[in-house]
Amino acid sequence: MKHDARAAARVVVTRALPEAWLAPLEAAGLDVEVAGGAGDPPDGGDAPGGGAAPDAAQLRARAPGAAALWVQLTEPVDAALLDAAGPSLRVVATYSVGTNHVDLEACRARGVAVVHTPDVLTDATADLAMALMLAAARRLPEGQRLVAGGGWEGWAPTQLLGLDLQGRTLAVVGLGRIGAAVARRARAFGLRIAYHQRNPDPATADALDARYLADLDELLAGADVLTLHAPLTPETHHLIDARRLALLPRHAVLVNTARGPLVDEAALVTALREGRLAAAGLDVYEREPRVHPGLLDLPNVVLAPHLGSATHATRQAMAEMCTSAILAVLRGERPPNAVG
Ligand code: DGY
Repeated sequence: MKHDARAAARVVVTRALPEAWLAPLEAAGLDVEVAGGAGDPPDGGDAPGGGAAPDAAQLRARAPGAAALWVQLTEPVDAALLDAAGPSLRVVATYSVGTNHVDLEACRARGVAVVHTPDVLTDATADLAMALMLAAARRLPEGQRLVAGGGWEGWAPTQLLGLDLQGRTLAVVGLGRIGAAVARRARAFGLRIAYHQRNPDPATADALDARYLADLDELLAGADVLTLHAPLTPETHHLIDARRLALLPRHAVLVNTARGPLVDEAALVTALREGRLAAAGLDVYEREPRVHPGLLDLPNVVLAPHLGSATHATRQAMAEMCTSAILAVLRGERPPNAVG
């Protein structure tokens, strides 16, 4: 870390990150400070790394005088934090494409720019959605348990029969960057695409031969696989609730790589438990890192620990987007990844 007697502008980073990610900020003469708890920076290996996330009070205590805050999706940015940072704060960089943890209005009101990491994580997240879709549709968790548990007695004609994807309908809620990337992949598996969002997007839809359904309920009723790619807002909270889960055909598979609270997790557990839904592939949860205990007991779910963007190249690219955007804002420029 660089400590300059001329009081370099401070960047407060909420968790320990690899030195290489932060190097461009330090090379630009900024004073980079980690606000999180103890923990070695991740080394690019498989260790969780990153140290503990600071709680709101710890973060507020480190914020005063900061010119930039680099947060992760685990740290809410609210008016109290912005006020603690004070008028020196110019930019909040979130190491995520999702911005639901940032009070954008409070930032706007204080003239604080918000930058995020779109595009670079699209392919990695779409790949993970496909992995969950395939694993859930073809019952891989049950197969893994059977084999690893020593209970497999050999090939059998009706063992663990799953859902074939060819000719089925993939219902996409939110045909944005990631939703469209999933749809592109799904078409290679023979799935037909239907989608719902507030306004149709004919240009994207035409390229995917995707059918727009203005009525979400209608989309669900015709879905063989449902994949969620909507942002989390007050309007989309529990978008998929008990009533809507009941609209899905019994053989359907639900995939969520967007945000956990889009789905009523308790209702999902009930639907899966009662066989009203075949399977689910989940990367996100309503109260991360807590997972509904019912999900842990179910055989027909694939559970990933919010890994959508977790590839080496993607996380590196996300870091580069954060550092270059912070530097741009501090130079008085508007970076291309500014929100709003
Ligand atoms: C995001 O960026 O919003 C993903 O959920 C995590 O990388």
